[in-house]
Amino acid sequence: MSKITVLEHPLITHKLSLMRMKETGSKDFRQLLSEITMLLAYEATRDLPTYDAEIETPVSKTTGYFISDTKVGIIPILRAGLGMVDGFLSVLPTAKVGHIGLYRDHETLLPVEYYFKIPEDAQDRQLIILDPMLATGGSSNAAISFLKARNCHNIKMINLIAAPEGIKAVQAAHPDVDIFIGAVDEKLNEYAYIVPGLGDAGDRMYGTK
Ligand code: PRP
Ligand code: URA
Repeated sequence: MSKITVLEHPLITHKLSLMRMKETGSKDFRQLLSEITMLLAYEATRDLPTYDAEIETPVSKTTGYFISDTKVGIIPILRAGLGMVDGFLSVLPTAKVGHIGLYRDHETLLPVEYYFKIPEDAQDRQLIILDPMLATGGSSNAAISFLKARNCHNIKMINLIAAPEGIKAVQAAHPDVDIFIGAVDEKLNEYAYIVPGLGDAGDRMYGTK
């Protein structure tokens, strides 16, 4: 069964509460999403292998520990996942970036794919899907399935907010995918929006509504 890590930390709850507030405008919303992503990336990359090498400080010789030549690929789900790319890259600049374009059809609530481009060597990489919202789990499950269909099987996911329904759906379909989450909210409403949530993440990022 996939491991669910919910990062309960004052820096995250504070920034996330600001994001939830309906008065918060797009500029601050984007900035906060980027900052929280750095904190989530910190936890999601905890198991990256390191190698040691002798180094010299101004004071003495010592052993330094460096991230091995591990290949990581981040896969933002468009649109809202784009707002997590810079934050992630600021802590791990060597990660390559793939993109999956998906939107939820507002009537059927099912994910519709419109773009797919991942690094050529994606199957050799630790892939980390980025999407602020895990609601029904339809988009995440579709993204994971697309990656697996391309022979990518080393997959994790980072979400800012998840609904219990979405977590359950991903765990049922993809028990091998560990998920790192900023907050687990109460439920979904009748329009499959997360309650209390923060509204439509893409619209709030880009001011489209
Ligand atoms: C949002 C969000 C997720 C999806 C979550 O995207 O960024 O991708 O909904 O919902 P689900 O778990 O029920 O699939 P949306 O479809 O609104 O597309 P957008 O980012 O382009 O606005
Ligand atoms: N997508 C969003 O952007 N917000 C939700 O609450 C659910 C899905």
